[in-house]
Amino acid sequence: MKLNSANINVMVKACRKASKTLIRDFGEIENLQVSLKGPGDFVTNSDKKVEKILIDELLKARPSYSILSEEIGEINNDDSFKWIIDPIDGTSNFLHGIPHFAISVGLEHNKEIICGIIYDPIKDEMFTAEKGNGSYLNNQRMRVSSRSKLEDCMIFSGGPKREAKNRELALKEYYKFSIKVLTPIRKLGSASLDMAYVAAGRCDGFWQRNLNYWDIAAGIILVKEAGGFVTDFNGENEYIQNKTILATNAKINKEMIEVLK
Ligand code: IPD
Ligand code: CA
Ligand code: CA
Repeated sequence: MKLNSANINVMVKACRKASKTLIRDFGEIENLQVSLKGPGDFVTNSDKKVEKILIDELLKARPSYSILSEEIGEINNDDSFKWIIDPIDGTSNFLHGIPHFAISVGLEHNKEIICGIIYDPIKDEMFTAEKGNGSYLNNQRMRVSSRSKLEDCMIFSGGPKREAKNRELALKEYYKFSIKVLTPIRKLGSASLDMAYVAAGRCDGFWQRNLNYWDIAAGIILVKEAGGFVTDFNGENEYIQNKTILATNAKINKEMIEVLK
């Protein structure tokens, strides 16, 4: 049994509170108000309600921390600590009644993610991690998988969106992986849960282009603290700038990079 740090406790409390609204709204999706942010990019009133609860709770507990959140953007306070929030990761699943989405909150200190939480309210699965203290699923320690041959692996991806500039490239990568693995590639529609599943050893490797920081912030620390690797497609740490992310167990990172070349 782990002892939660003060920051993790703050994050857990905020997520639990926000998830009540999320679960209630999921039960009444026919009443959802949906608007379009961009082509194929939907936002519901639930995204905004959940975001507000999270921000209110986090600011109440840590009034000096800054915030970057998907729907409202930036709140600039103390620059050294920043919450990175995706109120609903998997909005398309949510609004189609598919029970696979999550709240994702990361905490950055001096530009490095030091805590993360990804909460799947439907399955009541709380994935948490803190730098130096390991990754946990509902208080049980998580480790990445130990599969070492890509052929035997369960791999995930997401996208490309119809309007994506590098759509052809993404499809080419998908094709190259699809002829390597025996189990067909999964696309579950929530990048944060994709990364949480790598940390939990359910998925051996996940790659995707064009994700935003809030999609991956919490996942980064979860995978690292579970013993996995997070890199860009070149094996470097530039995943935020390059907008390419590869999250794997400790064995298949190199083999996946080879495929992505
Ligand atoms: C989306 C999900 C999805 C990924 C998209 C993201 P949202 O986030 O993470 O898995 O493929 O690129 O935009 O919009 O549901 O928060
Ligand atoms: Ca997202
Ligand atoms: Ca979102």
